[in-house]
Parts: sequence; structure tokens; C-alpha cells
Amino acid sequence: MASKLQTHPEESLDPQNWEELRALGHQMLDDMLDQMQSFDDSPVWKPLLDEAKAAMKQPLPLTGQGEAQTYEEFKQHVLPNPMGNGHPRFWGWVMGNGTAYGMLADMLASGLNPNMGGGDTISNYVEDQVIDWCKQMFGLPKDYSGLLVSGGSMANLVGLTVARNVMAGYDLRKEGVAIGDKPMVMYASSQTHSSNPKAVELLGLGTDALRVIPVDNQYSMDIRALEAAIAEDKANGLHPVCVVGNAATTNTATFDDLSALADICQQEGLWFHVDGAFGALVAISDELKPIVAGMEHADSLAFDLHKWGYLPFEVAGVLVRDLDELAATFASTPDYLTHMPRGLASGKSAWYGELGVQLTRGFRALKVWMSFKAHGIDKLARLIEQNVAQARYLKSLVEAHPQLEMTAPVPLNIVCFRYIADGLDDETLSKLNKELLMRLHESGVALPSYTTLNDNFSLRASITNHRSRYTDFDILVDKVVELGDEILKNEEIPS
Ligand SMILES: Cc1ncc(COP(=O)(O)O)c(C=O)c1O
Repeated sequence: MASKLQTHPEESLDPQNWEELRALGHQMLDDMLDQMQSFDDSPVWKPLLDEAKAAMKQPLPLTGQGEAQTYEEFKQHVLPNPMGNGHPRFWGWVMGNGTAYGMLADMLASGLNPNMGGGDTISNYVEDQVIDWCKQMFGLPKDYSGLLVSGGSMANLVGLTVARNVMAGYDLRKEGVAIGDKPMVMYASSQTHSSNPKAVELLGLGTDALRVIPVDNQYSMDIRALEAAIAEDKANGLHPVCVVGNAATTNTATFDDLSALADICQQEGLWFHVDGAFGALVAISDELKPIVAGMEHADSLAFDLHKWGYLPFEVAGVLVRDLDELAATFASTPDYLTHMPRGLASGKSAWYGELGVQLTRGFRALKVWMSFKAHGIDKLARLIEQNVAQARYLKSLVEAHPQLEMTAPVPLNIVCFRYIADGLDDETLSKLNKELLMRLHESGVALPSYTTLNDNFSLRASITNHRSRYTDFDILVDKVVELGDEILKNEEIPS
């Protein structure tokens, strides 16, 4: 009998007609796979039409228009305007392509929709398995602990938070940052990714507490300068707590001397955090592994799987030497979250909601587990080696061309270079290359990003792309030279 309190027909968000939604879902899958299969035939990126932007300025939809009509709008405005990072000639910033299989796994994860905070449910054991595999991949001992997070920025934040709390020497969670009688300081090179200073800010230490150590001419941290900075801070009554080592840097993919940093941290009693957002992944390649020697001494390691693991956003991870220290930093167990001896709130898997910032967490572990099993780590290693070989190939093309010049060494997978012309000074060349970069993006032919090295604006190809082929780099070089020549010939260098 219907409740007397019931005033409206009962509703849910399930489809009114499952068969129609099933057909629509199959169509969505076909459309998306079609697009992935044909990235090569489309521009890497194209400027957005005003119509598409206007479609995102509509009133709040109080009444639903239905799934099919909404999908039509997606097909009209969103699907034809991808960012471009799936394309074989996208080499901007440090981004992965994603994979078709990872996308399917994400759909399964959303379909199952477990809350990955903790409990005796298989999804938590999937993450346990992935974390164990990551330890093996990065050569870390079994007793490290960790969790998957949204990206490298969050992984650095988690690692540095544990560092701060463990090294504070008092109950920082209770007493707060200000109570320390000796202000804490951390160290990182001038090439460290901006997420590290951001983390130091969020930790309440202030960016002045992050000592910026200069780099040598290869962009690697100057070890002597680090030692001097630690000694000076100690002499001035400060409390050095942590060194951030780069594996590798965002600008040029340079590795700090991780073994030397680990030794200094051990001698000085400092926490050693490694930002291995993309560089940590080279540990799975026998050929490249020697570059990350010393990483195994990290007290905490941040790594991304949506960069050189090629998985769809968002998935990264952080591993920390001691589970108790990780839990002591983040666990918060009110009455409604205590563990039970039996039932869903029991279980031997980690309670990930107690090991990081988020309580409710998505099932990002599934795409990692399925992709690692489906493709195998050896294939991942081969793809990473392929990208490094492609970077060397691009370097050789640049070096062979009279109109191009390298602007940084290529220790791994990032190639920084610029168009040059006789008689132009560095300032004018920077303006020319900036204009060239924007025309290159607008051309849709290839999409490197950019950086400034020794005050010179540079094009920067960061190759974490499993779809790139050697011929794609020939196309890039030809287009860069064509555009540079065009700007020169038409005297279009912006003033
Ligand atoms: C070295 C390094 N660390 C951290 C990050 C931040 O990672 P995410 O963008 O996944 O937050 C990046 C991003 O490129 C990076 O290159």
C-alpha cells in the first residue's frame, strides 16, 4: 500500500526505457572509438567556434530534455573539439594520450561506482594490488605504503605533508605549524615543478621556506649549493626538514643526482621526497633504469600514471616508507567511520580514506589494474623507450637543420629548440618563436608547448605519447621551418 505521506509518483534516475539507453550507450561507444581511431586524420587542435562557447552559456536546465537530445548536443559541441592530447603529434606540457582500453575501464569503474574510502569490498583489494605493483615497478621495498591520487600535484602534496608532520618533532596536527620554535625549511632546485612550492604554501610554511637551489648547466641541482644552504640554515637556527629531488624536471626532463641527495638526507637527518611525476616510470625499463638510481632511497615518491603510464586522467600515486607515518598524518576516524570486525565496514585491505586527503574516492585503480594486466609492463617499458628514442631522433633533425637550434640538452624525452636566423638577437628570436608557436598551434599540424631557458623562448616537445611515429617528427620540423621562414619573409615578427 502506498504511503499516506506520498504526494508524487516515485521516481529514480534510471532510464525509463533501458533498451533505448542501451542503444544510445552503444552508439556513444562507437562514436568515441571512431574518433580515437581517426585522430591522425584531424587537426591536433583547432580554435573553438563562438557557437560552441555560446553553447556553454545556457540557462540552468530545470526540466530535463532527455538523454538522446543531450547526446546530440555533446556530438555537436564537445566531441568535435577535443583538446588534442590524444593525437600522435601532441607533445605539449607533460600529458598522456589515454588509451581506448583505459577509457572502457573508466566506464566500468563508474558503472560499479564504489566509494574507495575503505571497507571489505573487492575494489579496495584492486587498489592494494596496484599499489603493490607500483612498489615493484619503482624498486621500492614491500613495506612501503601508499595510495592512488588525482595527479602529481596531489601526490607531492601528500608526500610533503607527511614529511612536514613527521619531521616537525611535535604533534603538528594538534598544535599547528606556528608553534614550532625553529621554522621548518625544505629544499628543491630552481627547476622543480610548481606543484612543490604550491604544496609548501598549502602546508602553511610559506614559499620562503622552500629554499630554491640553483642548477648546473645541465639543469641538475647543484649539490654543493644544497649542502651550503642546509649548513647556513642550521647555523641560523632554522630546521631543515626535507629535500625534494627531481626525477625528472618538467622543463628539460633532467634528473637530479638522486643518490647524492639520498646520502645528504641521511647524513643530515632530512626527509627525501622524490617528485617522479613522469621520470619515475623509467624504472620499468632495463635500458633507462640507471638514470633513477637513488630513487629507491626516497622516504616518499610521487608518480603519475596519466603521463608516461599513458592512462586517461586522473591517476597518479604516492608511496611512503612507513604506513604508520602516512596514517598518522591523515587518519581521522569519527564514530561513523570506525572499522567493524565483520560486514562491509571490516576488511584487511587498506582504508584509503585514512591515508590521504579525500574520503570519498573514485575507482581509478580499476583502469590501472586492467591496463597493466591487458598490456603488460614490458610493453609500457618499450613505449617509454620508443619515446626516448623519438626524442633523440627529433634532436638529430634539429641539429641537422641550419634554421634550428637546440636550447637544452636532451637527457630523456623532452626536446627544447628554436628557430634561428642570421642577424637576429636573442630578444627578437624569442618574439619570433613565440609567434611561430602560436601559428603552429593554429595550424593544427603539431602541438609542442614552450618554455624559457636562459631567457630564450623555446619550443618544447615533451614526448609521452604512445601514438607518435618517427615521421610525425619530420612533419613537426618541416612545419616549424616553414612557419619561421614565413614570419621572416613577411616581416611579421611582433615588436
Ligand atoms: C615533474 C612534475 N611534477 C608534478 C607535476 C604535476 O602533475 P599533475 O599535473 O598530474 O598534477 C608535473 C606536471 O607536469 C610534473 O611535470
